[in-house]
Amino acid sequence: MQNFIFNTPTRVLFGKNAEENVGGLVREFGGHCVLLHYGGGSAERSGLLARIRQSLTGEGLRFVELGGVVPNPRLSLVHEGIALGRREGVDFVLAVGGGSVIDSAKAIGYGLVDDGELWDFYEKKRKASGCAPIGAVPTIAAAGSEMSASSVITKEEGWVKRGYSSEYARPRFAVMNPDLTLTLPSWQTASGCVDILMHTMERYFHRNDGMELTDGIAETLLRTVMKHALVLRDEPSNYESRAEIMWAGSLSHNGLTGCGTDGGDWACHKLEHELSGLFDVSHGAGLAAIWGSWARYVYRFDAARFARFAHKVMGVSGAGTHEEMAEKGIAAMENFFRAIRMPVSLTELGVHPAEDQMREMAEKCCLAVGGKAGVIRPLAVEDMVEIYRMAL
Ligand code: NZQ
Ligand code: ZN
Repeated sequence: MQNFIFNTPTRVLFGKNAEENVGGLVREFGGHCVLLHYGGGSAERSGLLARIRQSLTGEGLRFVELGGVVPNPRLSLVHEGIALGRREGVDFVLAVGGGSVIDSAKAIGYGLVDDGELWDFYEKKRKASGCAPIGAVPTIAAAGSEMSASSVITKEEGWVKRGYSSEYARPRFAVMNPDLTLTLPSWQTASGCVDILMHTMERYFHRNDGMELTDGIAETLLRTVMKHALVLRDEPSNYESRAEIMWAGSLSHNGLTGCGTDGGDWACHKLEHELSGLFDVSHGAGLAAIWGSWARYVYRFDAARFARFAHKVMGVSGAGTHEEMAEKGIAAMENFFRAIRMPVSLTELGVHPAEDQMREMAEKCCLAVGGKAGVIRPLAVEDMVEIYRMAL
């Protein structure tokens, strides 16, 4: 077991009508002037934003608004938010929406307390020394940004998508009402479920002994998400399943499923960020489209781990070599993706990268990680190009 730090400073308010407490929470966490940040319209249409405004007003808080965050959130809107926040004396950023909104809020938060070039953080040229306090009201269970340290932003110039993590950006609170996810299109629900699974799977595929408890939590989380993703496919209004998935989304990315390990592989996420940076696809669906190819490319480098995954997570039974078990486990996960109508290839994702685009993504990816990506089988440019080809 490796030494680890587990830091989850985010206060979670979970359950029906939880959003009514937002104003009080902002006040308690020191906010006086709030930037209310949201996406492209779903939170307005559902009436959620009206309830949030009412809660802020009820606490006597001043607030300004910036909507329009798109999936794969853009740097230009972040700059707009920073300028607005500075002009208005904003001291708290409240994100109401999906992971894209929360990530954009975190980026604005960095910019509000730093005069330098914000993108430097995302290019790992500098480290942040602070972030304005963030509060989150997630409306989709997916990215886990409501409890995570990271923020992923896309710079339009060159379509470069980069993440930056620091403890400063972890939200002060997350208000999670599973009912808020009821308006999601089923495809978006499923895409979110894949992302939740992948945040634990990236950590699960590591290269050291790990920790029995961490493995056990991870395996339970993965089985739980798969079970309830299937329920939601057939019964999108099932509250219990919405709630299980929403809580899993936070626990999958707040560090819990990586305690005591080397941190995990994460190559799939790196490969996908290039894909959604260049082709603007939904992150979870992008992960589903490449995971099988990644797994088949790397599994022989730790077949025992993949065999354990097959057995404990995918329920593959019977005898066989580690390699045989691993292959069955990979096929079973792809079948699960199909069952929730997620793509298992780039073609099914609707993306057809040319050879030079696959190379461009691989080169950008290696540049972003400063060398090879992943730990199961560290991937260089040629490896990545091959995985993209396999995923076609
Ligand atoms: O903009 P609106 O109208 O709200 O529509 C959104 C958007 O079109 C819609 N939506 C959200 N909640 C809804 C809803 N529609 C109806 N009803 C609701 N209740 O869903 C669409 C997708 O929203 P988005 O925020 O992009 O989804 P998600 O939460 O999957 O976030 C994806 C982003 O997070 C990044 C991804 O790369 C991607 O950019 N990630 C962030 C991470 C982090 N900060 O820790 C980790 C992840 O690995 C991931 O990379
Ligand atoms: Zn993700």
